[in-house]
Amino acid sequence: MLGLKLLTDPRWANIASSNLEEILTDHAWCEQKAASNAISLITQNSEHEDLVHELTAIAIEEMDHFKMVIDIIKERGYTLGRERKDDYVGQLMKFMKKDGSRNQSFIDRLLFAAMIEARSCERFRVLSKNIKDEALAKFYHELMVSEANHYTTFLNFARKYTVDVDVDKRWKEWLDFEGELIQSYGKKEHIHG
Ligand SMILES: [Fe+2]
Ligand SMILES: [Fe+2]
Repeated sequence: MLGLKLLTDPRWANIASSNLEEILTDHAWCEQKAASNAISLITQNSEHEDLVHELTAIAIEEMDHFKMVIDIIKERGYTLGRERKDDYVGQLMKFMKKDGSRNQSFIDRLLFAAMIEARSCERFRVLSKNIKDEALAKFYHELMVSEANHYTTFLNFARKYTVDVDVDKRWKEWLDFEGELIQSYGKKEHIHG
């Protein structure tokens, strides 16, 4: 799926379902971080008009997802907890190239975003297929489709704006790295946990 090297064990969905308040809190903050990431990409690369427009739409959509999640939290009588640390994303961040040319950092930032979209999409798929709660299963199916589109947008911009990066080669490195990394996860009621 989306080139991912390792698919999530569906049993992770049981862990997630066992603590909906926690998974929903973590999920809400994932959406906020996705919006913030799109906004910083816009701020740092404003010379690309199409990127500014498409990532503005994504930032709005991510905040719309955030709103949907906090609405579900409220409807169910849960409380939105404080922002959760995302160790998985922290590890991906370390893999991101920061010492190359401006273009290399830009392209790697896009691939970092595509990577998170791909795994989030896969995790939403696992939830949509395995969660017993019908309303949530439907919700996660819709979000899965949306995050798959974001994945495509980030990857396409990387291919469009590369100057000195072999995007296919670098994307393969990302997929290999993530395939190893994800083996340590799948045990917690967090979207990337
Ligand atoms: Fe989202
Ligand atoms: Fe997204």
